[in-house]
Amino acid sequence: MTKLAIFGTSGFSKEVLDIALDQQYKDIVFLTHDKSITGDVLGFPIQHENNIPKLENEGYKFVIAAGSGEIREKIFNKYPNLQYPNLIHSSVTYGYQMDKTFSLSQGLIFAAGVRVTTACEIGNFIVLNLNATIGHDSCLDDFVSVMPGANISGNVHLCRESYVGTGATILQGKDEEHKMEIGSKSVIGAGSVVVKPVAENTIVVGAPAKELKRA
Ligand SMILES: CC(C)(COP(=O)(O)OP(=O)(O)OC[C@H]1O[C@@H](n2cnc3c(N)ncnc32)[C@H](O)[C@@H]1OP(=O)(O)O)[C@@H](O)C(=O)NCCC(=O)NCCS
Repeated sequence: MTKLAIFGTSGFSKEVLDIALDQQYKDIVFLTHDKSITGDVLGFPIQHENNIPKLENEGYKFVIAAGSGEIREKIFNKYPNLQYPNLIHSSVTYGYQMDKTFSLSQGLIFAAGVRVTTACEIGNFIVLNLNATIGHDSCLDDFVSVMPGANISGNVHLCRESYVGTGATILQGKDEEHKMEIGSKSVIGAGSVVVKPVAENTIVVGAPAKELKRA
């Protein structure tokens, strides 16, 4: 089955297209809810979300190409019953039996160059962008986003919808029982170095990372 519909028409959706092509999808369309957006993305047609039932009948699978976990969750909640395969670029490397772990998830998007080591717990609809690394025994909850070149050390817990900016580093937790926790919906600024846990709904920046805002 090589049919894939990509939610979104933004820059990130073009990067997701690259992963889809790498994974041998051939019949690809982009989906929008905005009737004013028409035409194509890099030669692949844009269709309106009203066409989803037709696409489903034709055997299309779906991927939610949004960099924000909050938006991915909103789209998933709107269309919870579609088939969301994992899109894992062929250059991604991972540790012992992590492929079995990935196969229990849906909607994963792992871009080229990502490295996941071993004994990690992986939720659903997680984006690991280009060259991100995830250390041993880390736990990534649903709708987490890790941007390009970010390094997550071992024993880190990224809670639901947390977002790690480009090139950020998160230092390791003490051990498997005492993980370095990044709270739900928190944002780690690009290039920041996180040396202590971050509460939920908090934006931190800098090295060492300090609180910028709390929702
Ligand atoms: C942290 C972040 C979310 C803050 O965004 P924001 O709330 O709009 O904050 P602002 O741009 O208004 O900046 C507020 C202050 O924080 C500083 N700041 C912002 N981001 C920073 C960062 N990553 N590191 C250090 N300082 C930062 C600004 O210089 C500014 O400082 P000032 O008040 O002394 O002038 C954003 O800057 C960021 O880093 N996002 C991640 C982007 C990313 O990785 N994108 C990936 C695309 S693939």
